[in-house]
Amino acid sequence: NTTLPYPREVVAWLGELTINQPLSFNYPDDRSPCVAIRKGREVKGGVGPQRDVVAYSTQCTHMGCPVNYDQESETFKCPCHYSIFDPDNAGQMVIGQATENLPRITLEYDEAEDAILAVSVDGLIYGRQANII
Ligand code: FES
Repeated sequence: NTTLPYPREVVAWLGELTINQPLSFNYPDDRSPCVAIRKGREVKGGVGPQRDVVAYSTQCTHMGCPVNYDQESETFKCPCHYSIFDPDNAGQMVIGQATENLPRITLEYDEAEDAILAVSVDGLIYGRQANII
C-alpha cells in the first residue's frame, strides 16, 4: 500500500443528487472512474443526513471492465462476465467471476456546504499496486 495522502475532493452537492440516479466522477485521479449514488434510505457506510449516499469504483475487480449501475435491481452489473456487486452492502460481490468486492470510496458530508466529499478508497482499484500512483 501507499503512504501518499488521498486527495479530499467534492464529489457532489447533496441537493443535486437524485435518488437512485448514479453520478459519475473520478477519484483519486482522472484515470479512476467512480459513481456516487443517493439511495434514499440508510445504507451501510452511507453519509449525509440520511446516511444514504455511497460511492464506488466502477472498474470491475475481475478484469477491470466498467460496471454499470442497474437502477432496477439497485446493483452494479459487469457486462463482461456478469459479476454483480451490492452497493447497499459495502460493494460486496453477490455473484460472478470477481473475487474481491468493488472498492468503496470513503465519503464525508460537509453540512455547512451541503457537500459530499471523497476522502479515501477502501479496497484496491483494479490494475493498481497502490490506489495513489
Ligand atoms: Fe467483470 Fe469479468 S471483468 S466479471
